[in-house]
Amino acid sequence: VWRIMLGSQGLRVSTQGLGCMGMSANYGPPKPEPDMIALIHHAINRGVTFLDTSDAYGSNEVLLGKALKGGMREKAQLATKFGITLVDGKMEVRGDPAYVRAACEASLKRLDTDCIDLYYAHRIDTRVPIEVTMGELKKLVEEGKIKYVGLSEASASTIGRAHAVHPITAVQVEWSLWARDLEEEIVPTCRELGIRVVPYSPLGRGFFTSGSKLVENMSENDFRKKLPRFQPENLEHNKNVFERVSEMAARKGCTPSQLALAWVHHQGSDVCPIPGTTKIENLNKNIEALSIKLTREEMAELESYASADAVKGDRHVYMTTTWMNSETPPLS
Ligand code: ATR
Repeated sequence: VWRIMLGSQGLRVSTQGLGCMGMSANYGPPKPEPDMIALIHHAINRGVTFLDTSDAYGSNEVLLGKALKGGMREKAQLATKFGITLVDGKMEVRGDPAYVRAACEASLKRLDTDCIDLYYAHRIDTRVPIEVTMGELKKLVEEGKIKYVGLSEASASTIGRAHAVHPITAVQVEWSLWARDLEEEIVPTCRELGIRVVPYSPLGRGFFTSGSKLVENMSENDFRKKLPRFQPENLEHNKNVFERVSEMAARKGCTPSQLALAWVHHQGSDVCPIPGTTKIENLNKNIEALSIKLTREEMAELESYASADAVKGDRHVYMTTTWMNSETPPLS
């Protein structure tokens, strides 16, 4: 089996993980529970054992708790996150110690487990020095409630400050052919510190599966409808990116999403993407993408199709909660 060390602290995970969000939240209505449990079991049995969820994904943690009964928990590496809250319908990020502790205890209950393998700050609370948030996470490690600590959407300097308090095992950031803003600073910083990068939305939130058709087929309450890149005026432009990636995939004898995923895997053997899916056949396709070999020339060709100039619109609705705005006050 293909497994990699996530960070230098000893957590071993599958080379590709499974993003579970879409099973319960954000991408249209929750999917039927028995089907999702069957999908999670299938993933684990095929060796995709690194499962990614969050307390912000509706009932997703409860679903995982149910799916991991009957000997499955021991086979999985379970990652969840804290920190995204909704206040009067607006996103508010929390990283104060009392909140971190309460969130962890609530996640443990919903997951119905006594320990979380990897616990991420989902976003960085810019009102709290990162050392203070990390101090509480360190205590949770010492108490055995969590094994390893991660950060999501954190800047290089925030990562460095956090790592000095307690080793960071993984940093999760969006990374795909059309989301490459982490490459300049975050990736080198992680490599220097022995931290693994876990790319989320490696298929461009599904864009590299079907381009503009993805948006046409979205249900009413799919949050992706709000993403700048999927707004009609931008999509009209961005659909060309998909067309060119598709043409290349046809030449390579794979699907465009497999090509996009293979590109992420080719960023290094220390990179562990977590494509999201709700379908067994798509999971199988994503596993197959691990066998696709890309030459330097092919990598460059793909990159030219999805260059920053070729893509219109931000990757997030709230860029203010991405790593670009994750500096916290100094510890006084
Ligand atoms: P996220 O991390 O936000 O989940 P992603 O991993 O970039 O985003 O892409 C997820 C999307 O790609 C989902 O809409 C998923 O749809 P299904 O649940 O219907 O699978 C889609 N997707 C994932 N793998 C796919 C594949 N092999 N073929 C086609 N679509 C796929």
